Amino acid sequence: MADQQSKPKHDPSASQQLAAITAEVATCQKCPLARTRTNTVPGEGSSTAEIMFVGEGPGREEDESGRPFVGRAGRFLDELIESLPMRREDVYIANIVKCRPPNNRDPERTEVDQCSNYLRQQIDIIDPLVIVPLGRHALGWFMPELRITASNGKIFRHNNRVLMPLLHPSSGLRNPEHGRMLRESIHNLRDAILEGIRVKRETSQSAQPSTTAPAPEPATPELTPATQIVEEAEKVAAIAIEPDAPADPPVNLFERPQTEEEIAAELKRQRAIEEAEEAAENETETFAVDDRQSSFF
Ligand code: URA
Ligand code: SF4
Repeated sequence: MADQQSKPKHDPSASQQLAAITAEVATCQKCPLARTRTNTVPGEGSSTAEIMFVGEGPGREEDESGRPFVGRAGRFLDELIESLPMRREDVYIANIVKCRPPNNRDPERTEVDQCSNYLRQQIDIIDPLVIVPLGRHALGWFMPELRITASNGKIFRHNNRVLMPLLHPSSGLRNPEHGRMLRESIHNLRDAILEGIRVKRETSQSAQPSTTAPAPEPATPELTPATQIVEEAEKVAAIAIEPDAPADPPVNLFERPQTEEEIAAELKRQRAIEEAEEAAENETETFAVDDRQSSFF
């Protein structure tokens, strides 16, 4: 996965760079999925998004429209985003592979390897505060050692980026408990944004050491809900670094493991939980769903 780059937010060329990737993807023939696609699905949303959602690959409706997450799972994702409250246009939504695998099969390793450089570039350009891998396969691209059920809604630092994995929305549609978990854990994004701001501050401080904090951006009269969330988060983050405040960051703010040892212990625990859950799920009858996530869980 790409390391976080320090680049100015609201870079006017960001949308042009994203458009260049979209154009390149539109004619891409790098892997066999080019032969079976109807349309490429490069991703869409704000070039200055604070939050980037990443799915595995387009399904039937996405292949037909050229847009990510527009089927049933997409409508559920919209509902989750709107509950923040934010709008779909405020975030960026992309997939690991940009062309639909035939019959909604999982993409092959080689297809993922060929395609994922587009996603890497999109992440570098957008430079979001938080990346939300949706479902097991998307999470596997970023952090293969994590299990999705146990990681849902938790906040991780990885390569100077903040990740908050979520169950795939289609899993939330099929499994009421997963739906409930998604509706609840989407709100952890507020904490994840805070963590993203901290990471950004730490990386920019280590790039150019300075004792004075940068002046806050002047408030604008027309705030989008996305900006409001970030501004609120920035206020909380500012309190945490006030000179009179304790030097240690606030405790109990995040449920995620903080150190390598804690991550290792957490992974072990997650694996045990997931194995028990998988064993239980295998005992229940599976049913076919005509969308691309039927293979996800
Ligand atoms: N599922 C995904 O992972 N991506 C889409 O774009 C649609 C459904
Ligand atoms: Fe190119 Fe990716 Fe489509 Fe393969 S899946 S043809 S690498 S855009």
